[in-house]
Amino acid sequence: MQMMQRSVVGQRPVAGSRRSLVVANVAEVTRPAVSTNGKHRAGVPEGTPIVTPQDLPSRPRRNRRSESFRASVREVNVSPANFILPIFIHEESDKNVPIPSMPGINRLAFGKNVIDYVSEARSYGVNQVVVFPKTPDHLKTCTAEEAFNKNGLSQRTIRLLKDTFPDLEVYTDVALDPYNSDGHDGIVSDAGVILNDETIEYLCRQAVSQAEAGADVVSPSDMMDGRVGAIRRALDREGFTNVSIMSYTAKYASAYYGPFRDALASAPKPGQAHRRIPPNKKTYQMDPANYREAIREAKADEAEGADIMMVKPGMPYLDVVRLLRETSPLPVAVYHVSGEYAMLKAAAERGWLNEKDAVLEAMTCFRRAGADLILTYYGIEASKWLAAEK
Ligand code: PBG
Repeated sequence: MQMMQRSVVGQRPVAGSRRSLVVANVAEVTRPAVSTNGKHRAGVPEGTPIVTPQDLPSRPRRNRRSESFRASVREVNVSPANFILPIFIHEESDKNVPIPSMPGINRLAFGKNVIDYVSEARSYGVNQVVVFPKTPDHLKTCTAEEAFNKNGLSQRTIRLLKDTFPDLEVYTDVALDPYNSDGHDGIVSDAGVILNDETIEYLCRQAVSQAEAGADVVSPSDMMDGRVGAIRRALDREGFTNVSIMSYTAKYASAYYGPFRDALASAPKPGQAHRRIPPNKKTYQMDPANYREAIREAKADEAEGADIMMVKPGMPYLDVVRLLRETSPLPVAVYHVSGEYAMLKAAAERGWLNEKDAVLEAMTCFRRAGADLILTYYGIEASKWLAAEK
């Protein structure tokens, strides 16, 4: 009899008046497409096949049936509290300078414009920034001493931000490339070798100068070996035991950094007759093909005292985010880099993607992959969209 109550292809179930009354009280989505008289219910298109409901113990779609239900079982959420906003600073004029390959992003003029931008971010709940200075060419040298100038643009920006917003979390970038006339993250020998231990000496001075200016978190992005431990010791020696290190643990030699290097004019420079300058960063940044190597970097960073580990770039490297999440108990950050921003902006400008949906999806996927923190140029826009959804 039970079989007869169900619709069967080519067979008419028994018309049970009591059953159809019950069915009429059930929410639309829980009803099968066929009513007990073997015909489609109103609203089901003619031509829909008449079938026996499958005998399924598990129907995952039940948990997706309404926005309330979906929200209640959602595994991760995105909040402005997860964002770290990168800011580019310059002082060639008192005007912001748009970055053509990053529509909507400016090099901010040192001073009021920086304060205004960060105030806006804070009004949407973004209370963490990472500072990237554009160094004028005449201050760049092949040993990059400007990196640890106590009154350098980076150090002054940190001071300005901490004086204005004492509770703002200020992150810095520790690497020589914005100050290096050769455009590399380390000192380049005439033979074209990026010197490891010599570079670290200057990275330590740079990190200490940033801590003296008030930085909360210093972020070595250079991929030299042993820099996290050396920076930790240098900070502690100077009394900065409470300054954190966010290490770029798995930073890949990626094509996606192009727009950032436009923003800071920091790309590797052409070599000269007597000096070979490598055209790329492949002898220190990681090979995009490598996964296991990220475990090696993570173990070293953890042992050397990193507080946060970062993966960079973001969207093409979610497997590495997941790897670090499972390899270490440390917080994991992901950098949604300039090229990823540029791709989304370009598609949105052409009307090829719904920008808001695509961006919030990307942020959600970072969180699902295991990232706690997200560095993104969309920090303010995404936070506006999140606020509007509430
Ligand atoms: C500098 C640095 C880079 C980025 C962050 N820090 C550029 C590079 O390694 O060449 C890239 C950020 C981005 O593309 O958004 N070491």
